[in-house]
Amino acid sequence: MRLQGKVAFITGGSHGIGRGIAERLARDGADVAFNYGHDDAGAAATVAAIEAAGRKSAAIRADMLDLAAIREMLAEAERRLGTPGILVNNAGVEHKADFWNVTEADYDRVLSVNLKGLFFSTQAFVNQLRAAGRPGTVINISSVHEDLPFPGFSTYCASKGAVRMLTRDLAVELGPLGITVNAIAPGAIETPINTKLLNSPELLKALTDKIPLGRLGKPEDVAGLAAFLASPDAAYVTGATYFIDGGLTWSYHEQ
Ligand SMILES: NC(=O)c1ccc[n+]([C@@H]2O[C@H](COP(=O)([O-])OP(=O)(O)OC[C@H]3O[C@@H](n4cnc5c(N)ncnc54)[C@H](O)[C@@H]3O)[C@@H](O)[C@H]2O)c1
Repeated sequence: MRLQGKVAFITGGSHGIGRGIAERLARDGADVAFNYGHDDAGAAATVAAIEAAGRKSAAIRADMLDLAAIREMLAEAERRLGTPGILVNNAGVEHKADFWNVTEADYDRVLSVNLKGLFFSTQAFVNQLRAAGRPGTVINISSVHEDLPFPGFSTYCASKGAVRMLTRDLAVELGPLGITVNAIAPGAIETPINTKLLNSPELLKALTDKIPLGRLGKPEDVAGLAAFLASPDAAYVTGATYFIDGGLTWSYHEQ
């Protein structure tokens, strides 16, 4: 069990990729705290999965739009499970709108959850590590859209592009503290964020036709990569973004 004795904190752990990572890190030996927005039933299912793996869990309801709540959720996790040494910044939202129709409220919500929330959860985590004099690791869940344009999702692309740059910048600034910072950039993964796509056979076929491995990814696929980045096997990896997309990013075809 390569994460035995570790404590992980995952933002947005009540479903989707966050729950997949919570389950996997627990199976690899970590105790796992996570926050979630409002899905109490989803949070309970994640707790059950962590505990079924024989690990301790802490589910904390905290809105990623609320800076005080972000700081408090990490403090509560530390009180309940000990100082987290692994932070997975997973919580994220997207909003479809033509660029010319994006409202200030759309912009604020997407940038606040995906970038500001991630920024300050990382700051709170790093300050805990500094106070404890410990090393640690940050894993940012970005997206292929940190690089690939996604018309109709300009706010999402702006947030994930910023996460790419923040990952590199913090790898350099936090390396001397023994803190590694990496990102995972998933392609299309079967989670509630893609409900509309998953419910449309035509949209789904058009997308899977572009994916060389011929299917969408699953939360477990992303979780396997997160487990590697959280483990001692990745001790010398920092400032990297790992794409996990079934080959989607490079599968451009001339018609
Ligand atoms: N599913 C995909 O195809 C895909 C692809 C690339 C990147 N991603 C990224 O993966 C991450 C997880 O997405 P997912 O697909 O599992 O989506 P999801 O909708 O299933 O989960 C999103 C998570 O974020 C949390 N969250 C959202 N807003 C919040 C708020 N204000 N306060 C607290 N928690 C909040 C939700 O509680 C939920 O647990 C996101 O950052 C997303 O951008 C997903």
